[in-house]
Amino acid sequence: MTFSFQTDLGGALLPNPILTASGCAGSGKELSQFFPLTELGAIVTKSIMIKARSGRATPRMAETPSGMLNSIGLQGPGVDYFIANDLPWLDAQGARTVVSIAGETVEDYAVLARKMRNLPGVVGLEVNISCPNVENRGMVFSCQPETARAAIEAVRRNIGGDLPIIAKLSPDVTDIVSIAREVANAGADGVALINTLLGMVIDTNLMLPKLAQKTGGLSGPAIRPVAVRAVYQVHAALPDLPILGMGGIMTGRDAFEFILAGASAVSVGTASFGNPTAAISIKSELENILQEKGFATLQEAIGYAHRN
Ligand code: FUM
Repeated sequence: MTFSFQTDLGGALLPNPILTASGCAGSGKELSQFFPLTELGAIVTKSIMIKARSGRATPRMAETPSGMLNSIGLQGPGVDYFIANDLPWLDAQGARTVVSIAGETVEDYAVLARKMRNLPGVVGLEVNISCPNVENRGMVFSCQPETARAAIEAVRRNIGGDLPIIAKLSPDVTDIVSIAREVANAGADGVALINTLLGMVIDTNLMLPKLAQKTGGLSGPAIRPVAVRAVYQVHAALPDLPILGMGGIMTGRDAFEFILAGASAVSVGTASFGNPTAAISIKSELENILQEKGFATLQEAIGYAHRN
């Protein structure tokens, strides 16, 4: 019998469950030097905003134990440039693209959703309502149920058609399940868990924060147990809500942990900075592990750690 690696991420049918993480592969051009983008379940773009942005002041990256701190500040060319240039290129590669969108206001999300209608090669939207690198915490929409709901409702009302909406949530909340429930009720087809955690590194020689804007988002293996916990909790409470799991996935074994916790697919992020082909190794390692464990399909393994 042939093994089935396919997954359904809120209506996006993908040949395998390995995606890039937003912000870690731009719009795919750099990664495509190392492997065909069609090898991925999908590529998730850097979050696109309405206008071009140069991002936050430098330095905006710092190493941490088993991780990395970034405060990029949503740098990007703006949605019109993206649609005119990056998206046709991705489509020409045959890539399945999940576009990540980010707004400063609820109206921004509405405008971006309208622009995402009927675009070639786009298989889903990741709605980033959790970037920690914004001017004030009130702009982290997913930290309060009301703002999380408002942003996702705006996308749902304006997207038209049935493009899957995946809401990306922050772990920096008391109860991530209540936020996941809120966005699901607002029309999200799935959730992406987790965005980075808000952190800080102080240079003990200079005796000042290392990042120009002081705080940044922590990623990498250091956050994996937090991410696995979030996936497990949300899957336990909302078993029918598809989850895109991420946070420090370096190996197929790490990806397997997320699948067992309840993720239908995973995103590989920080690992790609050290090894651009990490996603491809993780894909084959995960496929081997699933088969070694006796699963005939990926689907059978999703949430397997929840059995009694
Ligand atoms: O600062 C950034 O561009 C990061 C975005 C995010 O983590 O969502």
